[in-house]
Amino acid sequence: MTYLELLQKNLVDEIEATRSYAATMAAAPQEDIPVLLELLADETDHIAHVAQLISRQSGKPVDYAALVSGVD
Ligand SMILES: [Fe+2]
Repeated sequence: MTYLELLQKNLVDEIEATRSYAATMAAAPQEDIPVLLELLADETDHIAHVAQLISRQSGKPVDYAALVSGVD
């Protein structure tokens, strides 16, 4: 796989992780929701970072992490 293809796979994995955490939250006890919300937020940050790396490969870089407030 090329670097771009690997990044694209990483992006899919990150998106799937957000779906998995959302599904987990639906079944979680109330006291676990804050931790799961934090994990979900972390995954969305990862999406922003991977999207930025993908855009750099296109020659038209977009700093998605900077465009979304609060991305770590
Ligand atoms: Fe992630």
